Amino acid sequence: MELENLTVICQEAKSDIQKASTSEDVIELRNKYLAKKSALSALLSELGKLPPEERKEFGQKLNQARAEISELIEAKDKEIKAEELKKKLQAEEIDISLPGRNNDVGGQNPFHVVKDEITDIFLNMGFEVADGPEVETDLFNFELLNIPKDHPARDMQDTFYISENVLLRTHTSPVQAHSMKAAEGKPLRIICPGKTYRRDDDDATHSHQFAQIEGLVIDRNINIGHLKATLELFAKKMFGEKREIRLRPSYFPFTEPSVEVDITCANCDGKGCSMCKGTGYIEILGGGMVHPNVLKMNGYDPDVYSGFAFGIGIERVAILRYGIDDIRKFYQNDVRFLHQYRKRAYGGIYHVS
Ligand code: PHE
Repeated sequence: MELENLTVICQEAKSDIQKASTSEDVIELRNKYLAKKSALSALLSELGKLPPEERKEFGQKLNQARAEISELIEAKDKEIKAEELKKKLQAEEIDISLPGRNNDVGGQNPFHVVKDEITDIFLNMGFEVADGPEVETDLFNFELLNIPKDHPARDMQDTFYISENVLLRTHTSPVQAHSMKAAEGKPLRIICPGKTYRRDDDDATHSHQFAQIEGLVIDRNINIGHLKATLELFAKKMFGEKREIRLRPSYFPFTEPSVEVDITCANCDGKGCSMCKGTGYIEILGGGMVHPNVLKMNGYDPDVYSGFAFGIGIERVAILRYGIDDIRKFYQNDVRFLHQYRKRAYGGIYHVS
């Protein structure tokens, strides 16, 4: 009787195992045929009831059947797992022949590129970077720079007024006064890059917002030779070793003497061309020796200290450096313009996508 049962169970098990097709099916098979409450285990508990002479043979058969079923289940398990893995790999296959998605890295606006370059040149000469407010008082923007209320030089620097005595700074020169006051009579060597504003009709060469880098050195025995040497080094580092500079007399209320600084035209090497209007030179900045009144008003004794100052137009340098034809391009954020300077973002290596 039990032997018949065993044969039936074995047959059923074999057909079940054959039908199994998923890992879940295998778990079910184990439960049905190998677990404690399985049909085989039930037969095992019957073993004790058999007469002793049948017990041994039946016991052996039972063990054999169990081992065989277990083996078949494990083999099936392996087969199913291999099949499932194959399907998974197929489903997740990556087509490495597809072109990759391009990472479109942006570029720095050439304005910032040039601002950083100018800043680095002066940092290497030992200058420190100072900062000051863009919303200024009349006192710092004009008066402490030797431009009293009725001074005609104010006409050239009309700006946006917040109130009668508060305005958007017309140049970075007020940072001279801020830095001198903060230094409390001690030697100074600063530059200040920053935005400046003037009331202007915007066109290719004028913008109501532009930027400058102010420079100021104060110490004992500073003379105009120091100014010239500093700016010559700057011109060579910025525009190339072959560039020469020329100082022309000029006028600023806060420097005396005052100069305009020109560099030899990079286009014609000083011979004269359309870019430099035949002069061989291109104006790049203004500067001079700090006016004694300015030193006095900001806490320095002009008999002991002297200094030089200069102001560089950042856009002007960028325009010359990169041949940009319209100052407004720096502010319009036209990606076609900005893309031309993308190579900066790749450290000089640039692939066209
Ligand atoms: N502030 C002047 C300007 O905006 C430039 C300048 C700076 C001149 C420092 C002399 C010294 O035109």
